Parts: sequence; structure tokens; C-alpha cells
Amino acid sequence: MATDERLFVVLLGAPGAGKGTQAERLSDNLGIPQVSTGDLFRENLKRETELGLLAKQYMESGELVPDEVTVGMVRERLSRPDAAKGAILDGFPRTIAQAEALGELLDDMGDELDVVPYIKVPEDVLLSRLAGRWTCRKCGAMYHELYSPPQEPGVCDKCGGELYQRPDDTPETQKHRIGVYFEQTAPLIGYYRDKGLLVEVDGRPGIEEIQAELLDIINEQ
Ligand code: AP5
Ligand code: MG
Ligand code: ZN
Repeated sequence: MATDERLFVVLLGAPGAGKGTQAERLSDNLGIPQVSTGDLFRENLKRETELGLLAKQYMESGELVPDEVTVGMVRERLSRPDAAKGAILDGFPRTIAQAEALGELLDDMGDELDVVPYIKVPEDVLLSRLAGRWTCRKCGAMYHELYSPPQEPGVCDKCGGELYQRPDDTPETQKHRIGVYFEQTAPLIGYYRDKGLLVEVDGRPGIEEIQAELLDIINEQ
């Protein structure tokens, strides 16, 4: 574990790589919050806030929400008391500009990133994962109809909430999101490798195996 009290981890990976699945478990195992920009946008959308309505058009088409908006939202999220011990960042940063902004944000807090696990998954696997994904409307828990099905179809094991398929998980938008990832987010792999923070993780094995590897990587920090 890091010598400072706070732990900041960025999970890097393409849409469907398992960032959310792993972040949720890391959050439970480490006792620090999962900060998912995708989830934050979806919450805002549900509450029909100004931010949610702004993000809607971008999310529906699979484009990125503008950096200033996203960075402002993360800044606010990290200032909340539950992030006092750090956070597992999932889906942020997604551009070099966001990565620079995160560096400055942590610097202002007198802190820095501890490690950036990069969950690496081949493209055909990404698509099959996204196609079978079901999410809990109430608590956000994630399932896959083949790889990690709920005990009862359509019902969340954790909270009994209703499971739904994300509107941006149509085949067309999935492909577009993966394209946007290769264009705008993949450059972060080199960016964090140059900073000595990147650790590659094979994202093909089962969920629990990957979780164990991530915990090892984080505990080595
Ligand atoms: P976001 O919600 O972040 O979507 P994404 O990046 O497309 O990633 P996903 O959530 O689709 O994939 P994941 O890696 O979390 O995989 P998961 O764990 O679900 O972003 C949505 C939109 O919001 C963006 O398009 C953009 O518009 C906007 N946005 C968000 N952040 C932004 C930012 N920083 N800047 C600008 N715009 C932003 O797993 C997928 C499935 O696979 C699940 O069903 C799961 O059960 C299954 N699975 C997971 N791991 C395994 C495994 N090891 N084996 C078998 N199955 C597995
Ligand atoms: Mg996700
Ligand atoms: Zn639930």
C-alpha cells in the first residue's frame, strides 16, 4: 500500500473490458469508493439534471462528453467525504487532457496517482461482453447473461432491483464507442507507461481471477 494514506487507482480499458465489474469489487474489498464517470452521467440523466441533459446526446451516440464538463464533475465527486481515503477511478480519464487535469487535481490535494492497471481484452471478446450485459437499475451491479448471470433472470442478486440493458449498448453504438476508445483513450496507455504507473492485466480470465490479480498489484504499491 502507498505510504500516504490515500489510494488513487485508475482502471484503464476499452468498453466491455470489465472496468465497472472490477471497480465495484475493488471498492468493496478496499473500502474506497468507485468513481465511474459513466455511472455519474447516467445518475444525472435519471434525475434530469442540467449535466445529465447535456451528457445525454454524447452518450447516446457513443461520443465523449466534453473534457471541461467531465473534469468538473470528477473534481466535485472527489471532494466528497467518502473519497477522503482515495478512489477507484473507472472510465476516467479518457483523454490526455483529462489525464493532465487529474494530475493537477491530485496535486492540489497534495497527492498523486498510485497505479494504473490496464485491463487488456481482444476486440471480439469486448463485443460479446457488451452484448450480454445487464445492469441493476437500483444499485448499478453488473451481470452477464452467460458469464455471470443473476440467480433469477432480470432481478439483481444484491438488492432485488430490476436489471436493464444500457441504451448505448446497441451493436452500432458499441462499435462506435470502441472506435472512440482506440482514437482518444488508447493514447493513455503510453502516457501512463512513460510515467511508470501502467501495469498490464490480462482481461480474458474469469472475474474473480482478475480481481485477485488487481488486489495483488494494488497491495504492492
Ligand atoms: P462508460 O459507462 O464508462 O462505458 P464504457 O467505457 O463504454 O465502458 P463500459 O461500462 O461499457 O465497460 P466496462 O469496462 O465497465 O465493462 P463492464 O464491467 O460493464 O461510459 C459511457 C459513456 O459515458 C461514454 O460513451 C461517454 O459518452 C460518457 N463518458 C463516460 N466517461 C467519460 C469521460 N471520462 N469523458 C467523456 N465522456 C465520458 O463489463 C462488461 C460485461 O462483461 C458485463 O456484462 C460483465 O458482467 C462482463 N464481464 C466483465 N468482466 C468479465 C470477465 N472477466 N469474464 C467474463 N465476463 C466479464
Ligand atoms: Mg463501465
Ligand atoms: Zn441491485
